[in-house]
Amino acid sequence: MQDIIQQLEEKRAAARLGGGKKRIDNQHAKGKLTARERIEILLDEDSFEEWDMYKEHRCTDFGMADNKIPGDGVITGYGTISGRLVFVYSQDFTVFGGSLSETHAEKIVKILQQAMKVGAPVIGMNDSGGARIQEGVASLGGYADVFQQNVLASGVIPQISLIMGPCAGGAVYSPAITDFIFMVKDSSYMFVTGPDVVKTVTHEEVTAEELGGAVTHNTRSGVADLAFENDIEALMLTRRFMNFLPSSNREKAPVWPTEDEAARQELSLDSLVPDDPAKPYDIKELIVKIADEYDFFEIQPDYAPNIVIGFIRVEGQTVAVIANQPTVLAGCLDVDASRKAARFIRFADSFNIPVLTLVDVPGFMPGTSQEFGGIIKHGAKLLYAYAEATVPKITLITRKAYGGAYDVMASKHLRGDVNYAWPSAEIAVMGAKGAVEIIFRADIGNAEKIQARTDEYQEKFANPFVASARGYVDDVIMPHNTRRRIARSLRMLANKELENPWRKHGNIPL
Ligand code: HXC
Repeated sequence: MQDIIQQLEEKRAAARLGGGKKRIDNQHAKGKLTARERIEILLDEDSFEEWDMYKEHRCTDFGMADNKIPGDGVITGYGTISGRLVFVYSQDFTVFGGSLSETHAEKIVKILQQAMKVGAPVIGMNDSGGARIQEGVASLGGYADVFQQNVLASGVIPQISLIMGPCAGGAVYSPAITDFIFMVKDSSYMFVTGPDVVKTVTHEEVTAEELGGAVTHNTRSGVADLAFENDIEALMLTRRFMNFLPSSNREKAPVWPTEDEAARQELSLDSLVPDDPAKPYDIKELIVKIADEYDFFEIQPDYAPNIVIGFIRVEGQTVAVIANQPTVLAGCLDVDASRKAARFIRFADSFNIPVLTLVDVPGFMPGTSQEFGGIIKHGAKLLYAYAEATVPKITLITRKAYGGAYDVMASKHLRGDVNYAWPSAEIAVMGAKGAVEIIFRADIGNAEKIQARTDEYQEKFANPFVASARGYVDDVIMPHNTRRRIARSLRMLANKELENPWRKHGNIPL
């Protein structure tokens, strides 16, 4: 028996060494942690249970029959984060460059399937040279098996992708299907075709970092949701992020203990909205003042910053916040902002997270670039996401709610449960000046008349009371009491039940 135990120890030690010391040193020299070190930091201490440690590839071509490393380039299993179950896979770049073989794919699929059965999130740490070149089509089949399982898991369990090294070619499509993509600056990149192919085909000269680095995907493409300075920061903040999420679509997010009084007043909010309607203010100031302990976990902060999204807690309960940002493009809705918010709302709705919408929006962004870019379809995504959502929906109009954007931003008409306005709210088809120039075009030469009409329009619509009189706004609230009113609404909505009609699936304007 002792012999067998000894053999097992040796086998384990070999598997733990992955591609060997030299390759581990290379990994460290690039500023990257190894696959195992990443798991250790991500999970609670001593909680990791590994599966398939001894699994090996079945390839015999190109000298591979004699070149087997137990585990085959990916470490899989489960453990806990803050005591809650999560499944993980971590690609080991020291083993065949973390490339994906048929068996490597089987390990990932197994984890996804088990996570779905027990209702727990999956976090994938990606660091891979893509399809295992020696295996050919078997590897491509493996990728497709992973994609299929990602799709089946979508909306059932949260799926998070950490990109911590190369992720190129078709390999990008597994993270792309998952709910959130977090990247590490300078050491990770994602692209469908790399710089060399780009140069051959389009004659563009571009570095890997420019083409698909963390900054690119967090500012320009919107493919990624957060960028971190290094592996450790990425892993630590992923731990914090997971605390906001439920384990599956069968549960609600965990309630986090808080000492912060729900009735906390914030007198400074009474002067947040400037007297001059053209002057911006930072909507994040309102978000943090509503949040327990002023804690706001923002997502995609540097992409489409004219809309702000992220998680807060109120009375310990996770809330998804979507807010127009007056400091950027006056908070207008454009293509990027619509897509950003729509996807986030659908995540929240899939996972039973209430949605809080803070509205200060002058409308959709005009211009050829927006129209040619398909603002009609993209704006419709946002409208669709709000209209489809059945989770508790609370909306607060702080200032402007103009035109179609008023309808779209979780209005009463889209089944908003509680729709509040501050006294500074202006709810109208458009701003007074623009409105008068259209309906009284004949008077345009007469400045006095135009001014009088503008004042009249302003007087009529630049307030929340016309909408309140119709019941489109449930109450006009004091800014300093916002946190208390939202907390009460959330309590009232705790057992909300609402179902959409049966269908195979809706046809969101993709
Ligand atoms: C097998 C691979 C590999 C791969 C790397 N390696 N990529 N082995 N299949 N795809 C191995 C190398 O042979 C090397 O082995 C080790 O991993 C480290 O690779 P290096 O090149 O030394 O590392 P580095 O200089 O850091 O470069 C990393 C890299 C490069 C940029 C990822 O290796 C690379 O370009 N690899 C090929 C990428 C690629 O074209 N993949 C296929 C994409 S198509 P040793 O033994 O020397 O340590 C695809 C289709 C998916 O993925 C389709 C799904 C629909």
